[in-house]
Amino acid sequence: MTDPRSDRMLRVDQAGEYGATRIYAGQLAVMGNRAPKSDEIAAMAAQEQAHRERFDALLAERKVRPTALQPLWSAAGYALGAATALIGPEAAMACTAAVEEEIERHYTKQLEELADSDPEFSGLIEDFREDERAHHAAALAAGAERAPAYPLLSGAIRLGCRLAIRLSERV
Ligand SMILES: [Fe+2]
Ligand SMILES: [Fe+2]
Repeated sequence: MTDPRSDRMLRVDQAGEYGATRIYAGQLAVMGNRAPKSDEIAAMAAQEQAHRERFDALLAERKVRPTALQPLWSAAGYALGAATALIGPEAAMACTAAVEEEIERHYTKQLEELADSDPEFSGLIEDFREDERAHHAAALAAGAERAPAYPLLSGAIRLGCRLAIRLSERV
């Protein structure tokens, strides 16, 4: 038996990494693989896929059920990715910057809460947080802040992420 607190955290984290893969899938579907930023996006997408697979494996190993909202995150993530890519490459990067900012904050909070109670899980979170930090920096370097209506776009996406986190913890 693992700590029910860890189980809840693992559920939300798996949902988040799954959502991330769906955001990038939506962006790449719109941008195609010849767009200027598509290599960079494909590289980040591959890392999200790896994060997701590690959490999938840990869920299975610990017999934790995934969130029931998976189909919702699949559709919402894909739509968010596609919509931001339709606005343009900078908006796609603004989306990544906003999401990663929230994920980084979320992982930091979890690491504090877990302290040394679950080293296996904490170790994964720490590794992934490094990747998310790099994604955040790459998105800013790629012009995220030049996206149209950046503060509004970024604020709305960050709010959506916080809501998704709260819902996935419970459902
Ligand atoms: Fe990730
Ligand atoms: Fe990421």
